[in-house]
Amino acid sequence: MKISVNRQSNVSIREQIYLEIAQRIRSGLIESNFKLPSVRELANEVNISLVTAHHVYKMLDNNGLTETIRGKGTFVRSVKNTTPNSNPAATFDWQLSIPDYLPRASFWSQSSVRLPPNILDLASACVHPSLLPIPLIQASIRQTLENSPHALGQYANFQGDTDFLLAVVEYLKILSIQLTPHQLLVTNGTQQGIDLFTRTFLGPGDTIAVETPCFSGAIDAFRLSHVNLQPIPVDTNGIRVDILEDLAPYIRLKAIYTVPTGQNPTGAIMSLSRRQDLLSFAREHNVLILEDEPHRELEMSRIKHSILPLPLKMLDTDGRVIYLKGFSKFLFPGLRLGLLAADGSIYNRLLAAKSIADLGSPLWLQKSLIPLFQSTQLLRSISKMSTLLDTRRKSVIQTLDCLLDPSIIRPKQSAGLHLWLSLPIGINTDCLIPEAHRRGVHFLPGSIFYPGEPETNHLRICWTNLADVDLPKALEILCRLLNDAVNTKTNSN
Ligand SMILES: Cc1ncc(COP(=O)(O)O)c(C=O)c1O
Repeated sequence: MKISVNRQSNVSIREQIYLEIAQRIRSGLIESNFKLPSVRELANEVNISLVTAHHVYKMLDNNGLTETIRGKGTFVRSVKNTTPNSNPAATFDWQLSIPDYLPRASFWSQSSVRLPPNILDLASACVHPSLLPIPLIQASIRQTLENSPHALGQYANFQGDTDFLLAVVEYLKILSIQLTPHQLLVTNGTQQGIDLFTRTFLGPGDTIAVETPCFSGAIDAFRLSHVNLQPIPVDTNGIRVDILEDLAPYIRLKAIYTVPTGQNPTGAIMSLSRRQDLLSFAREHNVLILEDEPHRELEMSRIKHSILPLPLKMLDTDGRVIYLKGFSKFLFPGLRLGLLAADGSIYNRLLAAKSIADLGSPLWLQKSLIPLFQSTQLLRSISKMSTLLDTRRKSVIQTLDCLLDPSIIRPKQSAGLHLWLSLPIGINTDCLIPEAHRRGVHFLPGSIFYPGEPETNHLRICWTNLADVDLPKALEILCRLLNDAVNTKTNSN
């Protein structure tokens, strides 16, 4: 476990070390019952005083993450998501002698939950396969594999196949996203775009502002660069630019990460004026913006009525926005394909990083999807799905209004695939997971959406992943579980 400390940071050294260890424990990277280095070993390794090391362990104990047994040491308490040892014969005891650099993997920790069979999954942010245009995708793949089998035997250009990029550019134009193939880079999902940005621009000592709560896959990726993450709250109009302004005299920001359309997890849509304010802030303070947009097509009715603001990238006048366009949320999560758009020398740097990461995304896949993106049926089919999902979303919100205890706060409106629910303070949704599994549902605890010390009374549910027949059952179980938690808390007060 390599612990990085930034001695110039305005976060105390004690808190930095606490967070490094706490996030590893919360992600399940350090297993239950693991014995942490002694106070003296920790102090020597990170070059801190014995008192500071002692305080770190006290904070871990106080937050229920470890237990210090006098005369024996500090041990990790039972972690909810520990994955089983894939090979019990592998007894190599390396963790104290060979430092690893992985500080956090909360997304992994949730997906590694061994869900009991038949559990109703309200966690995965996917659209149920019956709603996806799978026959269109199938036909597109079949046609290309028959007509251009040579694509299986070649590398693609690092930036992506030219014909694929041309097809995608035409598709994006229909959504009013005007980009040229020279601005685009094909990635293995937008998660890879986040990773390429991180490798290229973020390092120890840098600070990136992240909207908070924030997509945990992005937090995990940024943490890998041992960068400082500055949480910035979101409201119903998106990231709070007024708070960025307040912090600007004290913190030198290098970049801002945002999901302006269907923020994950709150579902906020950033208003046009907020988008303009954010861009002005970035220009004034010379900050990069990483814009992540996986949900635009799900808001077809807003697009048709011209009330969905353009991506920041389309409003950007000097090329400081790096734009990630995802397809997983309405087309093909399993194909792992996304796009990155950037300009000038920023584009060149990211392209170089892509060449190092994987020598380019699979050629056959890009060739296979050209007919799909050229098909006039594609947008019709996405529009249909978006309308069906609008109806479903309304009915889910109505069900929650009916079934949930009024003390549980839920949004009246929400874009994207999820809903963010807040329980009264004092109820820890991490602790509700075992009982949720026992009753047959799974959701994401809110704690994984925080870059630092988490708020623990929230949860995210995704209402698009289940079949029509299963969703009402799942919501009923979930509401009863949450109401029981509220009643237990009320009775114990
Ligand atoms: C905001 C956000 N960005 C990126 C991703 C990753 O998407 P992809 O499948 O394109 O890598 C997700 C998936 O959950 C997401 O919600």
